[in-house]
Amino acid sequence: MTKILVTGALGQIGSELTTKLIEVYGKDNVIATDIKNPKDNHLDVTYRKLDVTDIETWSDLIKSNEITEVYHLAAMLSATAAKYPLKGWELNTAPLLGLLNMANDLGIEKIFWPSSIAVYGRDAVKDFTPQGSRKNPQSLYGIAKVSGEGFCELYNKEYDVDVRSIRYPGLISWKTLPGGGTTDYAVDIYYKALEEGYYSCFLSEDTELPMMYMDDAVRATIELMQAPKENISVHSAYNIHGTAFTPKQIAQEIKKHISNFEIEYNPDYRQRIADSWPHSINDDVANRDWGWKAEYDLEKMTKVMLEKLSDKLKKPYK
Ligand code: NAD
Ligand code: SER
Repeated sequence: MTKILVTGALGQIGSELTTKLIEVYGKDNVIATDIKNPKDNHLDVTYRKLDVTDIETWSDLIKSNEITEVYHLAAMLSATAAKYPLKGWELNTAPLLGLLNMANDLGIEKIFWPSSIAVYGRDAVKDFTPQGSRKNPQSLYGIAKVSGEGFCELYNKEYDVDVRSIRYPGLISWKTLPGGGTTDYAVDIYYKALEEGYYSCFLSEDTELPMMYMDDAVRATIELMQAPKENISVHSAYNIHGTAFTPKQIAQEIKKHISNFEIEYNPDYRQRIADSWPHSINDDVANRDWGWKAEYDLEKMTKVMLEKLSDKLKKPYK
């Protein structure tokens, strides 16, 4: 019997991943946790308030509910971590290490923890960055993700902990807003296009970054976790490709639907972080090991984002 606990379940990914996990494994087999108060819980599932820096409470929750799989999503994203380095470092590293360290004692069979394209720094191959390209990140967030990948490899090799990971690109979704990321502009732009017909972008027009529509990211996560153990050859984190575009290209795509949409470029501190990341990702290894292939490109994603957000915001655009 699979019993799942999700941390950071009320965040951008957690909200949609938890909903999918409930669909796949049943409502009684999933527990959502987050540091937010229960009144902020919008998921139709058992919810517990949990601060993942409190390892003892986390371990009690896992033990008392006989949890077999943990999806550990609680973290601080790149732009916020740049502002609060110490807090970002503590949240993005120690809880993962604590979880890996207690996995065998608590009978946890599988762990999912997300890494990021931020592990690659200026010396990585920029276009279609291969799985093994150089990882010398220039952001604190990326440095923490490289450490996290190292913890996962160590606990897999030394203690046989089955921990699996993906280097998510920037994720784009319409249900829950992202919080504090450098790629957040690619979500915000759709809201502003519908609400104001104008967007002031915090990245320059030609900053190309790897991106992915949330449905693809959730599917990738479930497919990786369900893949046979013997197929998993990467115990740090897998590259996955969705799509890749610049602010100018996403604006042009939006203009096909909202012809009077205007964009201006006012790069801020996030430009430096974005400049250190890859433009696009090579995911041959994920494709070989567990058959990964994305379904959404910029055109398909823009159509869905505008349709869904238009309904949500009650802002018709056609
Ligand atoms: P998010 O900021 O939307 O959600 C994080 C959640 O963690 C929030 O609901 C927050 O309340 C919760 N949280 C914060 N501190 C906590 C604590 N001490 N204890 C428990 N919960 C706490 O982030 P997200 O976009 O859903 O990201 C989830 C994971 O995916 C993170 O590891 C992130 O680094 C990774 N990731 C995200 C993206 C992206 O584009 N969203 C891309 C690459 C990797
Ligand atoms: N989308 C994330 C961020 O911008 C990358 O991990 O922080």
